[in-house]
Amino acid sequence: MSSKTYFIRTFGCQMNEHDSERAAGVLESMGYRPVPDPARADLVLFNTCAIRENADNKLYGQLSALKPLKLADPGKTIVVGGCLAQKDQEGLAAKVPWVDVVYGTHNMGSLPRLLAQADSAELPVIEILEHTEMFPSALPARREVRHHAWVSISIGCDNTCTFCIVPSLRGPEKSRRPGDIVTEVRGLAADGVREVTLLGQNVNSYGRDLVRRGEAGEGRRNRTLFAELLHAVGEVDGIDRVRFTSPHPKDFTSDVFAAMRDVPAVCEQLHLPLQSGSDRVLRRMQRSYRSARYLDLVAEARATIPGVAISTDIIVGFPGETEDDFAETLRVTEAAAFDSAFTFEYSRRPGTAAVDLDGHVDPAVVGERYQRLADLTRRLSLAGNEAQVGTVQELLVEGPSKTDPSRVSGRTRTNRLVHVPAGPGVVPGALVRARLTRAAPHWLLGEVEAVLDAPAAPRPEPVLLPVLR
Ligand code: 5AD
Ligand code: SF4
Repeated sequence: MSSKTYFIRTFGCQMNEHDSERAAGVLESMGYRPVPDPARADLVLFNTCAIRENADNKLYGQLSALKPLKLADPGKTIVVGGCLAQKDQEGLAAKVPWVDVVYGTHNMGSLPRLLAQADSAELPVIEILEHTEMFPSALPARREVRHHAWVSISIGCDNTCTFCIVPSLRGPEKSRRPGDIVTEVRGLAADGVREVTLLGQNVNSYGRDLVRRGEAGEGRRNRTLFAELLHAVGEVDGIDRVRFTSPHPKDFTSDVFAAMRDVPAVCEQLHLPLQSGSDRVLRRMQRSYRSARYLDLVAEARATIPGVAISTDIIVGFPGETEDDFAETLRVTEAAAFDSAFTFEYSRRPGTAAVDLDGHVDPAVVGERYQRLADLTRRLSLAGNEAQVGTVQELLVEGPSKTDPSRVSGRTRTNRLVHVPAGPGVVPGALVRARLTRAAPHWLLGEVEAVLDAPAAPRPEPVLLPVLR
């Protein structure tokens, strides 16, 4: 077996984290071992994101940093995959000619073949496919954290949000069959995974394409396929926690809230992208819900799921956004009382419809609005966390705290980050009960009251999943 080494850097979203774990699995099944430093790796893979412009800039900066390494060691293989590779293709290879392989969003399974081709080629090997040949979930995985797994339930997106590059890069929505998803989750549970996050660009439209093609299988037709899937995944033995991201407010159905309430494993956590609180801006974004509908969903979630934590994505400075529009975003944000928010300055993405809209907002104005929104979301996050102090919560321990070596970090079912003192049994993968003692906007401190369930000893060898189609 080869003793070659690899290093993977992931840019962007959770879908990419999932894809990187698959790429790592593919490389390990070829005999590669991970190293923590690109300088020491025989193969460096960047899994790229194109959602916002700063991701582009970061990637090109980091690719430039690899040039001296490649010059010093021409045998080093440099691979760029993912959304930005799909978007820039030959342009990327021309800009950074020291890259060996460029592949897109649809063909990670071809990595072994592309690497073999690169071995015997002078020029970069570029392979960008229009359509997915197989779900990346069907590939072996090497998971970052042994007890957590990403599970992709659909890829692509049928929506046309005018700011978003995803549909043009990842294609139309394609759902995986429910049986394949459940089989994968069963395999994961047998392998020690106790938490899964179901991934799709719009989980609420999951399965529509299967129904269209008559491939949805037998099910209870009084629930949407996504609600049914939450039930099916939540019933898998050994899976304690099920999360999902992202839903779309226009397609959200009450049966999903009911599943979040009724299926014990499904966590009390909802990530519901708002994007803007202004109805005028939502219309220009081609997001077909309005702020009242959004706030109704928030109210329904809070009424149906006791203790639910709600997070969101918000874009500031979309073309044409006025001060009045932005005031609406502040109003809806305050009314929704988000527990956490990912806030973004609008980023111009060539190829998206928003580029041609009038009224592009002055960057200084965008920056100032961004700051006001960040101040508000920080205040709301702190208030949400402070309300938790004194409560007792179940934590799933992730690993050592990044800032305090005497503590370990874990997540509540609501996805709050909690740091607790290290102690016997308080190890990655353990479920513990902790009393929360102090709050900051983005974390809490706690004291462990009991270890509920410690994991079986970690297995050193890489994890290989069964191949599913
Ligand atoms: N500019 C800024 N933010 C964007 N997002 C997507 N496209 C853009 C863009 N062009 C944000 C949205 C989405 C999140 C993943 O990224 O808020 O929900
Ligand atoms: Fe982009 Fe909208 Fe699809 Fe989300 S729903 S991936 S924002 S087009």
